[in-house]
This record gives sequence, C-alpha cells and structure tokens, in this order.
Amino acid sequence: MRSKVFSALYHNRGEFVSGEALSEKLNISRAAVSKHIAALKADGAVIESVSHKGHCMTALPDRMKDCYVLPLLKNKNRISDFIWVDTTDSTNIALKKIGEQKDEITVLTCEDQPGGIGRRGRSWASSRHNGIYVSFLVKPDIPPSDAFQITCLAAVAQVKAIEETTGLRAKIKWPNDIVSHQKKLSGTLTEMSSDFDGIRFIVCGIGINVNQGSSFFTGEIASKATSLKIETGRSIERLELFAAFIDAFIGYYDQFKLTGADAFMDVYRSGSAVVGQEVNITSGNQILSGMVIDIDKSGALLLDTGKETQRVLAGEVSLRGKDGYV
Ligand code: BTN
Repeated sequence: MRSKVFSALYHNRGEFVSGEALSEKLNISRAAVSKHIAALKADGAVIESVSHKGHCMTALPDRMKDCYVLPLLKNKNRISDFIWVDTTDSTNIALKKIGEQKDEITVLTCEDQPGGIGRRGRSWASSRHNGIYVSFLVKPDIPPSDAFQITCLAAVAQVKAIEETTGLRAKIKWPNDIVSHQKKLSGTLTEMSSDFDGIRFIVCGIGINVNQGSSFFTGEIASKATSLKIETGRSIERLELFAAFIDAFIGYYDQFKLTGADAFMDVYRSGSAVVGQEVNITSGNQILSGMVIDIDKSGALLLDTGKETQRVLAGEVSLRGKDGYV
C-alpha cells in the first residue's frame, strides 16, 4: 500500500492531494493514509502536509526500496526479483550467494555497503544514502568470453540514465568507468559463475557516486573521484536516477539478447573518453602506450603503438592529461 500512496503523490508531484481523496482512491482509512505519509517522510520524502489541503510531495523518498523504485519503472515486468537491504557487505557478494536459485533479472541494492569490492582486489568506498550500489543477476545464453560485454552494456545504460536525469554528458573510460572531467563517477565489477556447459550466471555490480560532497573523497581518491552532485552543483534525486538506470539496463539487455553487442556498441564508442586519445594501458607489470584508434565490436581496444595496431582486451587505462597521465 505504501507504494500506492507514493505513486499517487508522485503523479501529482508539486500539488496537494487531500487525505480524503487518497483514502477513497486507495480504499484505506485516513489513519492509514497518515501512517504511510509519515513513513514516506521518514524515508526522506519532502511532503508538505496542510490541514484542509492535504499532502504535497516536493522531493522523492531517498531510499532505494522496491515500493518506491518499482512504480517508476517502465520495464518492471522484466524484473523477477527486486531485493533491497539497508546494509550488506557487498551487493555482488550477496547476489552471488543466491545466484543459482534466482532467475534473471534479479536486482539487489542497498543503502550502505561497508565491504564493497572493486576491480583488481580493490575496495569500493560507499557513503550511506549518497550513492547507488546495485547488482544485477542475468543469465544470458552467450559464451563466457562475451561476458565482458555486460560491463559495456552497464556503461551505456549509466550514461543514458545520467544524461536523462541530470543533463550531464558523462563519458566512458574503457572498459567500465564513467567519468566527468577525467574523474571517476562510477565503477562496474562484473563477475561470472561458469562451468563446462557455459555461463551459469553473471553478477554485474555498479557503484555510482551521486550525492557525496567533496569532503567524502579524501587521500588517494581525492584527485581521481567525483560525484554527480559535485559535477552538476546540485543534489540529485537518487530514486529517479536509479529507476532510469534500471530501465536503461533492461532495455539494452533485451536488445543484447536479440542482436548481441551490436545493440549498444555504437553508443559505447561514441560515449568513449579514450577513443582518439594517447593512453597508457597497465596490465600486470606491462605498460602499453599508444593512441586508441577504435573499440571493436566485442569491446576490445584497438591501440596504435606506433609500430602496430594491438587489440587489447584487459588492462587499466590512464589518459594523458596536462600534468601527465591521470
Ligand atoms: C571498480 O571500478 O573498481 C568497480 C567498482 C564496483 C563497485 C560496485 S558497488 C555495487 C557492487 N558491489 C560491490 O561490492 N561492488 C560493486
């Protein structure tokens, strides 16, 4: 019922809806309406309640709960399970534990993630109620070698959702970072469970820095990371961004199942922060330098090293900034 009260206020955003109208429309008592309004406020919604006028929502709840996210989705029927937990060590770890039993598309999200994991064994710093931390479980019928393309899919879905909800044109730093002014806004960690028969499941986990202020980014990450709030100069409705991202992810995923990575590779390429740039690519102890000429259909970088064109499938890219590589 919370979801219905939320939807009614959402569809009349900025306008007063009387308690009486809500109670009649939803067939619940006035006391029950008041209880749900109080719960919405406790979850961060800004609702002005005025006697004889009713309730007017001016800001959405700031919790990524199913009762708020699902009513905003166009692709809601594609979600087999949506799990919200207040806190979990890592959404990827939690989803991997239940991956065998769940169907695609399962979404697991949380408000805080003290044990968040990043690529290459790094940790991922979370900030309670300020970021988006989400993992998607999918079971595509593709060879394990193509699982990497799900990372590219997540990147284009993020760029689309960020532009739709904030107006910011973020870029994709191959393979998985979303950046603005060469600073990282988000990262993706795609993990796979497979056997001789192929992929059992893929967990694609994304962390987006949304409403963190600059004081959150200290030490080593201070010069490398940013948030949407810092980039746009205003607080972002996490719920709207999250819903737009889930819709975009599902939209691209459904096309991917029909046509493969062709469904989004052109968009991935055109949103790339590295095509046409001088880069260093670190892989283990090896550093490759050159100019990125393109990204091929499978998502590999084509690097002109000056001697030859190399196809690069893994590694960490740094771009040449005015003060050297960043
Ligand atoms: C990276 O850039 O190193 C990848 C970071 C991935 C972080 C996300 S947050 C949601 C999901 N759960 C995790 O523990 N990690 C990913």
